[in-house]
Amino acid sequence: MPALIRPFRRRAFLKGSVAVATGATAFVARRLSGASAPRIEAPAIDRLVIRVIIDTNHDIFISGESPKDVKVTRTRLMPAAKNSDTLEGQWGLSLHIETVKPAERRNYLLDFGYTPQALNHNLELLGVDVGKLDGLILSHGHLDHFGGLMGFLEKYRGKMREDLPLYTGGEDNFCYRYTKEGDKFAPFGLLDRRELAAQRVRAVLSEEPMILDGHAFTTGAVPRASIEHVLPNTFVEHGAHDGAGCDVGKYSHFRPDEKQGEIVADQHWHEQATCFNVKGKGLVVITSCGHGGIINNLRWVTEITGITKIHALVGGFHLAPAPADYLAQVMGELEKFDIDYVIPMHCSGANFLAAAKERMPLKLIQCTTGSAYTFGEA
Ligand SMILES: [Fe+2]
Ligand SMILES: [Fe+2]
Repeated sequence: MPALIRPFRRRAFLKGSVAVATGATAFVARRLSGASAPRIEAPAIDRLVIRVIIDTNHDIFISGESPKDVKVTRTRLMPAAKNSDTLEGQWGLSLHIETVKPAERRNYLLDFGYTPQALNHNLELLGVDVGKLDGLILSHGHLDHFGGLMGFLEKYRGKMREDLPLYTGGEDNFCYRYTKEGDKFAPFGLLDRRELAAQRVRAVLSEEPMILDGHAFTTGAVPRASIEHVLPNTFVEHGAHDGAGCDVGKYSHFRPDEKQGEIVADQHWHEQATCFNVKGKGLVVITSCGHGGIINNLRWVTEITGITKIHALVGGFHLAPAPADYLAQVMGELEKFDIDYVIPMHCSGANFLAAAKERMPLKLIQCTTGSAYTFGEA
């Protein structure tokens, strides 16, 4: 079988690599030993506002109805002072997050869209004060999520706090990535540590769940424990050259051939979800692309927090390329959770939207660029 379409034999590799687990990440060491999932105390917040800076389109006629316990705000035409301009939709995702606790407030930007032009343009039109950002969060190393980052920093870094963290998952965020054009690979972006350092951004990596400022938590690497698998997407080169790439020496979950720089189908072990515990409501889980599967993500967050109530599942669910029977299975699994709302964005797919309209119409809240969702106390 050609290397490019060979299935990823991670489990077999893990079994064969116990002896070389020295230096493994805590995530890998735990999986090798069979130890149970870590538990975290998910910090409770009073209010969460998710504002959609970039999604695929900007639909001014989308429903403005709010369900009883989520406030939905839509951006339609701009007010007169700005109405010679309009929001840009594009292939990518960027969300502004505001969290509120008694006498405390935090602001984050989660993912950065595909291009800085759209990101900077929409931030300005929506009136986001980037000077208030407490940190940046990157879900995973795909260009439609980090493509706008460097241009955003070039424009706004001077207005932002001096110590600026970028919270993300595993080392593989920094790998070279590729798409396939015919039988050739084409570059598909690179998150370059040198560029982050030049902008005085402090990358904070964790393959384990991580609590952010007592307001949020990230999942780290999400175990694959359901019927889901990674649907076809990009390819990844595990290794470094030309001063950039990922340092696979730190990570034992790569197979030896991957350490030699082979380009393989991406399994996204570096991807993380960003989550919140809204007081009296339950968890709000944002899977920005959800390559590891939404069911895997939901199982993991309930396991690590002990909280089974899901107030909302938000984000890219990456079901657009799913075959009908696969989607039906995922919907069946999703219905087993104690979940109030689903807010599909980005790569979730028209197929998911149709299935949700049919199977869980009262739980579905639709999304378009410029929308804001307020969870918790008003
Ligand atoms: Fe992605
Ligand atoms: Fe994406």
